[in-house]
Amino acid sequence: MPVRPIVQLGDPVLTQPAKRVHRVDDSIDRLIQDMIDTMLDAPGSGLAAPQIGVPLRIITTHIDEELHVIVNPEIVWMSEETEIAEEGCLSIRGYAGPVERALRCRVRGIDRRGKKLKLKAEDWLARCLQHEVDHLNGILYIDRVVDKSTIHRVDEDYEVEPEETMRETVPAAEEQSAPEAMASPVGARETGDESLR
Ligand code: NI
Repeated sequence: MPVRPIVQLGDPVLTQPAKRVHRVDDSIDRLIQDMIDTMLDAPGSGLAAPQIGVPLRIITTHIDEELHVIVNPEIVWMSEETEIAEEGCLSIRGYAGPVERALRCRVRGIDRRGKKLKLKAEDWLARCLQHEVDHLNGILYIDRVVDKSTIHRVDEDYEVEPEETMRETVPAAEEQSAPEAMASPVGARETGDESLR
């Protein structure tokens, strides 16, 4: 199965909402296989269909040797407890920055065979799912980085690994309703993008 080119920042497909999948048929199955192959080849811990230029609501993740494929994923719950950790993105090669995300989340969707699925996630998987679902809504991690000056260059082949990252847990009591705040993009994409182009 072919590894497809990964779309890079500046392509409009990355900033548009993706469309729901109505039926998981053979063409969707082939697309999913291409996504998996592309993600593993990169290598990356997650991929959203828009990143290979297909504006459909499909994500794949590969964390701790565990593969997840979710069609029409919906985050149905996020913990109030958040964590700040460094993220990168296969569509923004060579950069990384700290993003605050819910520490745990629950996701619903359908699997590769068209069956309903529910997934409880925490830590890196929870972060990755939030990052990939953001892609389906046209939101990039650089939109979530509060202080754009913290976005920094990394090695082109740099793959963010949980154990390497600077992590900071934000207790629920101290933060100001982060999940609500995170529901809308932080904005300032214009200023964020400038430093990245
Ligand atoms: Ni990404």
